[in-house]
Amino acid sequence: METEKNTARIGKDIAHAAAVIRMGGVVGIPTETVYGLGANAFNEKAVLEIFRIKNRPFFDPLIVHIHSAAVLERYVTGVDPLIRKLTRAFWPGPLTVLLPRQYCIPDLVTSGNPLVAIRVPDHPLTLALLKELDLPVAAPSANPFGYISPTTPEHVALQLGDKIPYILDGGACAVGLESTIVQAVDGEVTVLRLGGLSLEKIAAVTGKMPVLAISTHSDPKAPGQLDKHYSPRTPLRVAEDISVAFAAEAGKRIGLLSFRETYPALSFAASAVLSARGDMDEAATGLFAAMRRLDALDLDLILAEKFPAEGLGPAINDRLARAGAK
Ligand code: TXA
Ligand code: MG
Repeated sequence: METEKNTARIGKDIAHAAAVIRMGGVVGIPTETVYGLGANAFNEKAVLEIFRIKNRPFFDPLIVHIHSAAVLERYVTGVDPLIRKLTRAFWPGPLTVLLPRQYCIPDLVTSGNPLVAIRVPDHPLTLALLKELDLPVAAPSANPFGYISPTTPEHVALQLGDKIPYILDGGACAVGLESTIVQAVDGEVTVLRLGGLSLEKIAAVTGKMPVLAISTHSDPKAPGQLDKHYSPRTPLRVAEDISVAFAAEAGKRIGLLSFRETYPALSFAASAVLSARGDMDEAATGLFAAMRRLDALDLDLILAEKFPAEGLGPAINDRLARAGAK
């Protein structure tokens, strides 16, 4: 006898999503960056369930989502003035700040770190949900550990739909890259993860380019920065020169992932051009969906073009490099 596979309902019912979270359940939630797997951060059983669903190691801590900067001090013991400047300028938005946590935030959420990562997401449905709950919601990206982050409710349903009851449908994510994670260290803004808020925008507020502290190798102390991350199943290589790289891989079925160029002279088996008009923000928005599309085609290789190092370029290059890591 065939049994029907359970699959998450997708809808816009904020009251339902709130009820599930209040009862200790896990819900797929939209944000402007990527979709998250949200649960009540105060409920350790619910948070455990997030780790189980994602198959995520416990040393990799979760970001806590709140509805406004006005409630930040419920969860942290102090806010560095530099960080305050940034939250004033960029919340709601793709900025996550690390601050000393209050005891109400469980160890499980921060993996024992005395600092908690917090942000106010910029999505009307999730902001309404957070206001209705008036609880902090712990939410990692809603992908199986190590795979590409989801930017549509369908991406979430495809991979985790049989593990959660509900996905709040907020459409496609506007930014498309995870939040930029920062911390104030010795009077300087330090960036721990490149993301949807560019370094230039941070510098425009602080008057100084932030310091980069992004690890490029596997380090359990900075787990979001694990080398192999955001990965498609298909091997992916980042190339400075696509034509040279294509020639070196002759005979293979190759997919192109490029910024604006189409490379008509090269016979790619498939291609994804992220922004024909050369708009970096548009390229970021579509990056993960394009990686998924190419990954579904059973190609031998995805060749990705390296992006210029301005705006969201470094964050895109970071994701491409991790997607290509062995
Ligand atoms: O845009 C985003 O940030 C998305 C949406 C859903 O908000 N969330 C997201 O979560 O990307 P996740 O779990 O995929 O990545 C969170 C990363 C962790 O892997 C870790 O590197 C860092 O944030 N992190 C979280 N809490 C931390 C803490 N207490 N101390 C140090 N790093 C932390
Ligand atoms: Mg993630």
